[in-house]
Amino acid sequence: MKKISIFVSGNGTNLQRIAEYFKNNPDVEIVNVICNNPKAYSIERAKKLGIPVRMVNRQEFNSPAFTQEMADLQLDLIVLAGFLLKVPASLIQAYPRKIVNIHPALLPNYGGKGFYGEHVHEAVVAAKEPFSGITVHYVDEIYDNGEIILQAYTKLDEKETPDSLAAKIHQLEQAYFPVAIEQVLAR
Ligand code: GRF
Repeated sequence: MKKISIFVSGNGTNLQRIAEYFKNNPDVEIVNVICNNPKAYSIERAKKLGIPVRMVNRQEFNSPAFTQEMADLQLDLIVLAGFLLKVPASLIQAYPRKIVNIHPALLPNYGGKGFYGEHVHEAVVAAKEPFSGITVHYVDEIYDNGEIILQAYTKLDEKETPDSLAAKIHQLEQAYFPVAIEQVLAR
């Protein structure tokens, strides 16, 4: 049995898709959802999916006690699915090469501090990039820096807007994030 924890801060469309993808797989269990935002729609989704939610504030998230709590779960993978807090070094050291993130652009471009949510798509459209996409990568101690696991591309149209690009990126995330997770679990 592979045990996964999914960390979220927002809407949770990736959480939903991942949970549905592995629903009928007896070898994969999503043991909990970690959420730092009391207003996140992810909480509702997790409840409907029957996955326990563990709320944390920033201070608790960064505490040694939280790292220990996570270490005790003996997870096979931590998945950051739209999670906005920086993961503390202690947790990264507890789970080396066992934490993955999805970023809504083609890293190393449009990554790092400040590049999240619509800010990414606004910057990509403003720069008239011919392509954007998604990057699934391991998490290390620098934002959006870890080794790349998977990238998928989409072309920008002449009249692309941040919103239309976000919709394309969303499609890519839904199609490829669970597959990338499955591949990492098989390593
Ligand atoms: C996604 O675009 C993901 O790439 C980024 O945050 C967004 C999360 O969306 N890191 P959701 O909460 O899964 O709907």
